[in-house]
Amino acid sequence: MLLLWSQDKIPQLLNWKAMIPPKTIVLVNTWAIQRDPKLWDKAEEFIPDRFLNSQVDFRGQHIQYTPFGAGRRRCPGIKFAVAGAEYVLANLLYWFDWKLPDLRRCEDLDMSDYYAIIIRKKVPLHLVPMLHSFS
Ligand code: HEM
Repeated sequence: MLLLWSQDKIPQLLNWKAMIPPKTIVLVNTWAIQRDPKLWDKAEEFIPDRFLNSQVDFRGQHIQYTPFGAGRRRCPGIKFAVAGAEYVLANLLYWFDWKLPDLRRCEDLDMSDYYAIIIRKKVPLHLVPMLHSFS
């Protein structure tokens, strides 16, 4: 995530007062940053609405939220990934109406996750699709 500007100089990072020797591999703990209560209100809660009317976006300009990384090694597939996700989601929402099985309420969904190389839902999401009627 962090590349040195020059191999022969030891860069000084912002105001961390940390000296990083050349050729050091730096791993940034984005998992912790993205859950930092100093940066996020109710950091551990799943609140997608927090992004409504928010300046924070996912393209790597805001350090508190970097799902695609940031800087020169940021994910080069970002546009492809976003277009693909939007295309699939838009089609699923356009063609189907969705409900939870057993008359469960959205509020009862278990949104807890577990951490591996990527984060997954601990409890898989089960939904019932019904073909949308346009009439
Ligand atoms: C939702 C989907 C995706 C997410 C969340 C994601 C996230 C990431 C992240 C976090 C990195 C590491 C960035 C860093 O080190 O700072 C990365 C790297 C990379 N991603 Fe993605 N990615 C996604 C989709 C894709 C797609 C669709 C492609 C290609 C078509 C792609 C190609 C790459 C490549 C080649 C790298 C390595 C870049 C490098 O090391 O210079 N990614 N991605």
